[in-house]
Formats: sequence, C-alpha cells, structure tokens
Amino acid sequence: MSRSARFVFIPVMALVAAIVLIAPSAQAQSARYEAEDAVCEGTIDSNHSGFSGDGFCNTPNRVGTHVEFTVYAGAPGTFTLGVKYANGAGADRPADLSANGAPVQSGVAFRPTGSWSGWAIETLSVPVREGGNTIRLTAAGGGGLANIDYLDVVRAGGSVLPTSLQWNSSGSLVEPKSDANHDIVSVKDPSVVHHDGRYHVFVSVVSDNQGYSLAYLSFTDWSRADEAQLHFLDETPIGGGYKAAPQVFYFEPQQRWYLTYQIGDNVAYSTTTDIGDPDSWSSPTPFYTDTPQIVLDNMGAGQWLDFWTICDGANCHMYSSDDNGNLYRAQTSVGNFPNGFTDPVIAMHDDNHHWLFEGANVYKLAGADEYLLLVEAITAGGRIFRSWTSPSVTGPWTPLADTKENPFAARGNVAFDGTAWTHDFSHGELIRSGIDQTLTISPCDLRFLYQGKDPDASGPYNLLPWRLGLLTQSDSPC
Ligand code: GCU
Ligand code: CA
Repeated sequence: MSRSARFVFIPVMALVAAIVLIAPSAQAQSARYEAEDAVCEGTIDSNHSGFSGDGFCNTPNRVGTHVEFTVYAGAPGTFTLGVKYANGAGADRPADLSANGAPVQSGVAFRPTGSWSGWAIETLSVPVREGGNTIRLTAAGGGGLANIDYLDVVRAGGSVLPTSLQWNSSGSLVEPKSDANHDIVSVKDPSVVHHDGRYHVFVSVVSDNQGYSLAYLSFTDWSRADEAQLHFLDETPIGGGYKAAPQVFYFEPQQRWYLTYQIGDNVAYSTTTDIGDPDSWSSPTPFYTDTPQIVLDNMGAGQWLDFWTICDGANCHMYSSDDNGNLYRAQTSVGNFPNGFTDPVIAMHDDNHHWLFEGANVYKLAGADEYLLLVEAITAGGRIFRSWTSPSVTGPWTPLADTKENPFAARGNVAFDGTAWTHDFSHGELIRSGIDQTLTISPCDLRFLYQGKDPDASGPYNLLPWRLGLLTQSDSPC
C-alpha cells in the first residue's frame, strides 16, 4: 500500500482548504514529512549523502534554532515519530520537542552517528489533536540541531495483536546430531517455512572447535522433527568457513528460494529452485562489498550480524544488529533485489546494548496494515524477546510488549508441561502463513520456533548446548 495514500501531507498555507478537500479518514496510519517541506531555520543542504527527497535541514550552531513540521491527524491520539537525522559531531545534539506549542520532551539526545552521511532514526511520541499539529524540535545545545532529513509519523496503538501474550512451550524438539565429519554441540538460529506439506528448517550448527556452519532438516510434523536427518551445508556449494544465522524465503518475482546468512564481516545469499535439495544451493554471493561505514562507526566492540530481509510491494528491507545497541535497516527496490542495498540507517538504538541485542525478525500481519518487529534482549533471567508494531515496514516502531514485566516471550509468560528445559527464549522465528518475501504471519496462529538450553549449562557461549523448541500462543483472542 502506498504510504502517501494513507496520511496526507498538508502544507501550512493550504491547511484549511486541504482539510476540506482531502481530509483523510481516522484510520489514516502513516506519512513522511520531508524537512525541505517543513519550516527549517537554516538551509536545506544536500552535500552529505544518504538523505531522502531534495535535502536535509541544517540549522546554525546555536541554542534555540529549530525545525517545525505540520502533521495532520484524522483523530486525536498519540503519534509515534521517527526523526531521521545525522550527527557527525562528536557529541549529542540535544533538542527539545514540542507539539502545538506545548513542551513534550526536553533534551532528546540525537546522539552522534559517526559521520554527517551516517543516518539514524530517533523515535519519539507526541499527543495530537484532530487536524493540523505543529511538531517542533528546538536546539538545546550550542551546536544547533543535528541535520534533519525527515519526520515519519504513525498512529500509536491499535494493533491487531494483544498487548500481552501467553505461550505454551514444547519440549526440546531438535537436538544436535553429529556425523563422521561433524562433531556438533548445538543447533541454533532457526529459520523455517512450511511448503508442500513439510517444514523446511535451516539452522546454524556449532562444532566442538567452536566453528559455525549451516545445516538443513525437513519433516512433516513437529512430533517427528528429531527423526529428521541434518544435512550439513558446508558439504554443498555453500561451502565451509564461518556461516551463521540463516534466513530462508521464496522470492516470488524471481521464482526462486533465497537463503541469506552472515559470513563474518558481511552478509551473503545462495539461491535454489528446489528447497528440498540441499545440494542445489548456489555458492555464496555477498550483498555488500565491505562492511558499511555506519556499521564500522557504531558497532564498537560488537559485530555486525543477524540479517533479516522482508519486502513490501515496492522495496526489500534488510534489518541487522551489531550487539552494541543498534538495529539497522537498509533497502533496495524489489526489482533490484538482491542488488543495490543502501547503506544501513540506525532504525533503533538503546544505550544498554543487552536490551536491544540481536536476532531481529520483522513480519507482515495477514489481514492488517501492520508489521511486527521482534528483537532479542539479554536479561538476568535469560534471553527474552521484545516486540513493536508499525503500519510501515520501515517503522517508526511503537512498543507492543517490550518490557521485562510484559515481554513478547520470556520465562514469565511461557508455560511448560513439567519442568522447564530452558529459561532462555533466544534467536528464532515465527511460523509464517506463506513462503514468500512478504514474510506474512497470521495474527491468529502465533507459533515461535526458538533456541533454548539447559538452565544449568555454563561455559563459553559457542559451546552452549542450544536446541530448538516451539512456542504456541495459549491466549489467542481469535
Ligand atoms: C558541518 C556539516 C553540516 C552540519 C554542521 C554542524 O558543517 O557539513 O552538515 O550541519 O557541520 O556542525 O551543524
Ligand atoms: Ca548545522
């Protein structure tokens, strides 16, 4: 669905006439407001790459300088804002946020992005009234504002999913199985599709020398999953060397399957027309020539990993993490896929890197103009998943169940038949209702294939005994 059809940008001068002529319905969901169409107390510049539209707003280096957007709301409520900005200075560029002249939040950080061509999204929340609303960012420091590219606006709340969830977990369903050439200690990072009456599961396997590679298994029923043979993909054209965190989907426009995976400092893909034949995958092709600068500038002591591709009608989006508190998103057109991915933008950040860690999934919810984002976090009680929703695959993301008290999946909202075999609900994915690049799930059939482990296991991360289990939502309202 085109974004512009859903919310309508209304220039200040034409506000009254526009409301009469093209007032959108209360269901209006998302819109982008470019800085070049806003009131920019400064210049609209285009000398740093990575901006959208004609340019970005560059304000002078002083306190009190501002940019003001006028956004339209079909009904009163709360908007989640995504402000795309760049800050190549070494320090925060703090700003005060106001809506319709009333202060909303002071000292929003607009933290450094590494360079003036490194872009990030600052996510904010404002109350809105029906009609036009002025959203102003005012520089709170002597550096002025960060460079501001655009404001994305979505209505908060109203998800088709419940805002709290309960799950039942299976026992451990898939265990590591070694063969003559592979001594493996774990199966982890599953990606799964259901096709032609079978589940097709791709996993990372870790060997006793802590090397990562990929494996494939297929079965008709979860009850028979552990009988399935593990096909080691290092013995196929995918080859040996570090390979981890696979994602599988059918790219309908090219009538072929894609398997993407991390290969160290990059992400690569293989393709096939027969998902059931592990030997048929092509050899790896990297998506990028090098690790993008924005990642190098922000990953700190982390690593760039857990790549996740989802496409809407126009574009394919690749999310990734860096274990340093940053969730990235890059994009290319559906027609150009798998080529042409842009430099990533920091889509979300948390100063506590454990709280926005890795293992992100994004899905389209069937029958709704809504996307679901899951990101794994590390807590004292184990690995958990947090969740957000947005009417756009690009966000901005509104919290759904994203706290320790109300997580998407964690120890506190998962029940076991007998003793819990795991306290961790780590890297996995939801069972999709289809196979294609839109990654559609049914909101009435939430099942999550995850990695868990014996709570008493200890030692180096790469030798932990990860196995696969399946969560099934137990309080579905459908
Ligand atoms: C540099 C940069 C500008 C930026 C400015 C600033 O001049 O090129 O885009 O706005 O620094 O410090 O604000
Ligand atoms: Ca400036």
